[in-house]
Amino acid sequence: MTKKIAVLPGDGIGPEIVAEAIKILDRLKVDGLEVDIEYGLIGGAAYDETGTPLPEETLAISQAADAILLGAVGGYKWESLDISVRPEKGLLGIRSALNLFANLRPAILYPQLADASTLKPEVVAGLDLMIVRELTGGIYFGQPRGIRILENGEKEGFNTLVYRESEVRRIAKVAFDIARKRQGRVCSVDKANVLECTELWRETMIDMASNYDDIDLSHMYVDNAAMQLVRAPKQFDVMVTTNMFGDILSDCASMLTGSIGMLPSASLDENSKGMYEPIHGSAPDIAGQNIANPLATILSVAMMLRYTLNQADMADRIEKAVSTVLDQGLRTADIYSEGMTKVGTSEMGDAVVAAL
Ligand code: IPM
Ligand code: MG
Repeated sequence: MTKKIAVLPGDGIGPEIVAEAIKILDRLKVDGLEVDIEYGLIGGAAYDETGTPLPEETLAISQAADAILLGAVGGYKWESLDISVRPEKGLLGIRSALNLFANLRPAILYPQLADASTLKPEVVAGLDLMIVRELTGGIYFGQPRGIRILENGEKEGFNTLVYRESEVRRIAKVAFDIARKRQGRVCSVDKANVLECTELWRETMIDMASNYDDIDLSHMYVDNAAMQLVRAPKQFDVMVTTNMFGDILSDCASMLTGSIGMLPSASLDENSKGMYEPIHGSAPDIAGQNIANPLATILSVAMMLRYTLNQADMADRIEKAVSTVLDQGLRTADIYSEGMTKVGTSEMGDAVVAAL
């Protein structure tokens, strides 16, 4: 049956990198992939046209779709807008509206890029880590929130970190199920020494683990986890953590792999419907110059094929093709090193298509 994909290019480099991912889908259609693509506006691009970063129509298209491919949102142009209509609200809004609570952010080092990492090759060689980030709760969404004026006239900003047991349970289940297909080790990251909310997080993780005899669950405070990620990242198999900690740790983990331009992500609901996006942002400083790395978005398509469209063989093909172009020495600027061939965004996309 033909599957529907909503494509939301967004802002900055979003449209360029998404265009390369579409080339991949078009190529796979030739081989029998049955998908219909419908485009929607999100982020600053949507705000400019409609006055909101998440128009009803975009939400409707996304709700009706089997999977969503998203580029990136945000840019200098919209930074002074009220927070309620900033591009980022579009992204947070769609995650929340579609209940995409499980964010999978794999950090895999392609051996060809061992030199591109700022860490020593022996520290990162063979790295294969999965960060499972809770995506629709925690301090990103907790109420109350805002900026208020105190009696003495001083302003005070406030947000609320809140997790229910049920939210922790469902993300624990995702992490444990993924670990079962990997090395069976889950490290839950919290700040249980200071924050009650994550004390409950830890207790709930431990309770959930009693249903998973085969899973080796450990715990780490987030400050230590940040240090361990750059000290000895290969100690980790699956990391599961809160929305904000996951946001921070996944950017950190991305640099282990050489470039944030390499890392895809999947955001899944309870039924494995998913939104797929590179973890890097809209990079407005390099937008429109054909120099952005499209591989994270292309690899996001591979994740879409694997997790939502049940086409693991096609996902494998994309991942192999990416490896092939790296073997060929092709590099966008962010992963370039001496002796390699520097290519632009569209050349990189074409090369992956050719390697398919
Ligand atoms: C990410 C991004 C977003 C987040 C921003 C753009 C709202 O940093 O996907 O990691 O903080 O979740
Ligand atoms: Mg982030």
